[in-house]
Amino acid sequence: MQLLLSTWAEVEAYLKTSKGIILPIGSTEQHGPNGLIGTDALCAEVIARGVGDATGALVGPTIAVGMAVHHMEFPGSMTLKPSTLMAVVDDYVSSLAEHGFERFFFINGHGGNIATLRASFFEIYARQRAARGREAPDLRCTVASWWENAAVPQISRELYPGAEGSHATPSEVAVTQYAFPDSIKSVPMEPHVAPSGSFYDARNFRRRYPDGRIGSAPSLATPEHGKRLFEAAVEALSGQYRSFLEEA
Ligand code: NI
Repeated sequence: MQLLLSTWAEVEAYLKTSKGIILPIGSTEQHGPNGLIGTDALCAEVIARGVGDATGALVGPTIAVGMAVHHMEFPGSMTLKPSTLMAVVDDYVSSLAEHGFERFFFINGHGGNIATLRASFFEIYARQRAARGREAPDLRCTVASWWENAAVPQISRELYPGAEGSHATPSEVAVTQYAFPDSIKSVPMEPHVAPSGSFYDARNFRRRYPDGRIGSAPSLATPEHGKRLFEAAVEALSGQYRSFLEEA
């Protein structure tokens, strides 16, 4: 069930059965030679919808632009500053909390969002507590990145041994190829597996990783792989969402 495709009366009825909502969060940033700029937002969104279908959870609008300061040397990349992203997360959660939502399950598609998301959650708790003390609503927020479970990395290791890398990975490219087959790009890449390592800012990132990939060989991605990864992610995250709602 998607918030954007629901009526207010349907949301009112949903709230009588559940206080939980799923919020996809991604990024709009370069993903190497064949990866779509929207890869992180698209992966989070399609997997969140899959989890919504599997669990009956309401899925809110995607936060499509995330914290991607380090990708800004590549055309098309967009970023929110960490402080802006925190304000956006606070306003999403606070709006929904006004209606009675209490459990916020962020399905994340971008590693660069995690630190800021976690900081946002404590800002929200602190502000609620400062305003209402022990009368504050029992809000809980958590972030689950779609690859952070046992099943997804196991498939990635099997399909792409030594070639998954950490940015513009064949796994995330495969998920977008499965979900958006009309947007598959075929681009030659040299070297086959990109160099690995760390980075500081945007200029330094592009100098070290000139085509945008880190440690990955995304030319290995196929839509069939993407289907497997999508299904594994949906199953794992559906379990995590159910556990989150059941926690004492
Ligand atoms: Ni990504």
